[in-house]
Amino acid sequence: MSERPWWQHAVIYEIYPRSFQDTNGDGVGDLSGILERVDYLAWLGVDAVWICPFYPSPMADFGYDVADYVGIDPLFGTLDDFDRLAEALHRRGIRIILDFVPNHTSDKHPWFAEARSSRDSPKRDWYIWRDAHPGGGAPNNWQSFPVGSAWEFDEATGQYYCHSFLATQPDLNWRNQSVRAAMYDVLRFWLDRGVDGFRVDVLWHLIKDAQFRDDPPNPHFRDKDPPHLRLLPLHSADQPEVLPIIAEMRQVLNGYPGERLLIGEIYLPLERLVAYYGPNLTGAHLPFNFNLMWVDWRPAPILRLIRDYEAALPLGAWPSWVLGNHDQRRVASRLGPAQDRVAMMLLMTLRGTPTLYYGDELGLKDVPIQQHEMRDPFGLVVPGQGRDPERTSMPWDESQNGGFTTGRPWLPLGKDHPAISVDVQKRDPGSMLNLTRALLALRRREPSLSLGDWEPLAVEGDALAYTRTAGGRRFIIVLNLDTAPKAVGFDRDLAGAIELSTHPGRVGERISTRIELRGDEGVIIKPT
Ligand code: NOJ
Repeated sequence: MSERPWWQHAVIYEIYPRSFQDTNGDGVGDLSGILERVDYLAWLGVDAVWICPFYPSPMADFGYDVADYVGIDPLFGTLDDFDRLAEALHRRGIRIILDFVPNHTSDKHPWFAEARSSRDSPKRDWYIWRDAHPGGGAPNNWQSFPVGSAWEFDEATGQYYCHSFLATQPDLNWRNQSVRAAMYDVLRFWLDRGVDGFRVDVLWHLIKDAQFRDDPPNPHFRDKDPPHLRLLPLHSADQPEVLPIIAEMRQVLNGYPGERLLIGEIYLPLERLVAYYGPNLTGAHLPFNFNLMWVDWRPAPILRLIRDYEAALPLGAWPSWVLGNHDQRRVASRLGPAQDRVAMMLLMTLRGTPTLYYGDELGLKDVPIQQHEMRDPFGLVVPGQGRDPERTSMPWDESQNGGFTTGRPWLPLGKDHPAISVDVQKRDPGSMLNLTRALLALRRREPSLSLGDWEPLAVEGDALAYTRTAGGRRFIIVLNLDTAPKAVGFDRDLAGAIELSTHPGRVGERISTRIELRGDEGVIIKPT
């Protein structure tokens, strides 16, 4: 195991810092709050934390609008707090991964203020400026996320600037060498401070078509789809010239000891996603694979997904699996609390590096947010697109605000927060939290579960079954994705004993050619 880079056998845990732990009573989490909870992270058994942006920001997109890449927003603390946190994590053997947001800055970043000050500004070309279309209006038809033209008219200088997201998030011009040099210096600043890697925001967006051609209409668009899907982003994203840039980022990381990790946030179909490993694996170590979040939750489609993904991976590329993040509905809400446990078992027994979203270890659900409590700008402009429900605070205990804050939490907690809190679940051996912890511990103990080969296992009965094998050790995983009980038969004698079940009380039970699974039950079997 030690021969493999750390990130191949790691479990990554995503922390949305606004919602993890508040220490100063302002209702928003902070770095000192994460510091207070490092023992919990060590107890849970995660190997690395990825912390969403905490840089100075007007918070138009809650930190994904960066006004200074090398500072800490006072809301979250200070650089000293950061250093203390990094040190405390490292002391417990936990790596720290930062969120790097290279596609766009805040419109309040001094670079943009300078760029928009005049057409002759030395930083003008650091952003993407175009004249109006000859026929008037925006230079082309590119759309921003969540809605509207990707072009904003700047009255003072009479040109449009490009923004793939909100108008307050102008896109940097990554064709400009000075932009690249400045952003690589940002990476070095944090690497020098000891960070172990970066999750790179919207990595596939960095380069746009040099000729600014219109995007074609999406023939599959249906009226009920979100507006940004109206066009196919053929020219506004995913351009081949992005790959050499990622290779440059990798080179910056490679200049540091200890295998610093580059993760790419990339929402693309499988065949395009795997291109981001780069030629000869010079790209991202881990392009995030989000497909478990929308796969049809039945054995056949999931098996197909795993097979297709494994088959699409370039030689030597390492898989990534993700069940949730701060932009998507919570897995417990998508699948329900019982199947959620099976999903966690699946995530922790697939080949590759799993990323776990904070609170998912508790089975935290989306919290319904009333219109007047909505905070996410995306939800405010496009009803239904709000990401507040999956960003509510971590329930630590049974007290009124779940131990998250002594003030008023920035988003309300769910009504069920006392029952699912860390304190309550810690005391219950059968809880989701203890199941997650047991899965992490088993995965750490048994390299076959993280690094081993993955093979589908043909079974009678509609269950998802596969084996994981390494160095002569093997595990068999059988998952019932249905609420009804299932008898699952193997075509050979797989004599073994249950090592772990989503349901309490089955550990040690022997099986040979058949197993009766309860509804929503998953088991890990160790052959004997
Ligand atoms: C992806 C981030 O995960 C999301 O939260 C953000 O709004 C956009 N990128 C823009 O930075």
